[in-house]
Amino acid sequence: MSRNLHGKTIIITGASSGIGAATAIECAKAGMPVVLNARREEKLRQVAEQVERHGVNTAIVVGDVTDEGISERMLDAAEHELGGLYAVFSNAGYGSELPVLKTELDQVRAMFEVNFFASLELVHQAARRLVEHSKPGHLMMCSSCLAKFTMPWHGVYSATKAAQNHLCLSMRAELAAHQIEVSSVHPVTTATEFFEQSARRSGKGNHSDVLDHVPKFLIQKPERVARAVVKCLRRPKPEVWTSALTHTFAAMATFSPRLLDFVMRQQMRKMNGG
Ligand SMILES: NC(=O)c1ccc[n+]([C@@H]2O[C@H](COP(=O)([O-])OP(=O)(O)OC[C@H]3O[C@@H](n4cnc5c(N)ncnc54)[C@H](OP(=O)(O)O)[C@@H]3O)[C@@H](O)[C@H]2O)c1
Repeated sequence: MSRNLHGKTIIITGASSGIGAATAIECAKAGMPVVLNARREEKLRQVAEQVERHGVNTAIVVGDVTDEGISERMLDAAEHELGGLYAVFSNAGYGSELPVLKTELDQVRAMFEVNFFASLELVHQAARRLVEHSKPGHLMMCSSCLAKFTMPWHGVYSATKAAQNHLCLSMRAELAAHQIEVSSVHPVTTATEFFEQSARRSGKGNHSDVLDHVPKFLIQKPERVARAVVKCLRRPKPEVWTSALTHTFAAMATFSPRLLDFVMRQQMRKMNGG
């Protein structure tokens, strides 16, 4: 049976652009009040305006997801300003385009702090509050298709996304008895600021060539991911995939590491101009 989301509050991190902003608007269309988090306040205010046009309330919590106490601030905003917590979409994250050997350990740790540990902290605290108040809920993380396979120059990013995926699968079983759903979301290439940010962090200026190399039919709009997230909130499932083709490739890569190895070596040759 499809769940009625009207009046059920969701916290969305990384809501100032891309998938997070699109999901906030899609949740608003379903009647969900939204707590919006990211670092850029002005952008959050613009998203809040669009969300409120759908007749729901918002609360803004500005800050880095790794800031001490930020998870409590988001949860308090949901409870005290928007009538109580129902769902979390832990979506804030970033990537890089660097070979593992050119990535300093500090950079690896920093990415895990944002993509993995901050997500873990938020869903952990959200789950504790829901259990304490005997309330049902739904905790979601924005992982990636790269949680199930990887590509050259994306090893560290993939590792953070695989960690999120495994955490969600485990928590899903652990929290089922409390009527708390847990799901991970696995978008394919999505046209957002993500690639520009990745290029900048990898010392390549503002232009990432990833979007130039991915076949156009594999590039999605953030609204597609947003609709898939809301569909999962209505009808919970363990994993959300937005491309059947990529999901099939992920299954084949798991079944045959040799196939994945072959594809990645071909890609490496292309990247080296061979
Ligand atoms: N785009 C893709 O192809 C793709 C594919 C698979 C998975 N994903 C995942 O989707 C999620 C959203 O990415 P996107 O594609 O929508 O990219 P995006 O447009 O760059 O959005 C990233 C969001 O995260 C926020 N953010 C980044 N670091 C943060 C931090 N330390 N604290 C708080 N907020 C932070 C950014 O806002 P501020 O800068 O304002 O803080 C922004 O709102 C990420 O987890 C990404 O790994 C993306």
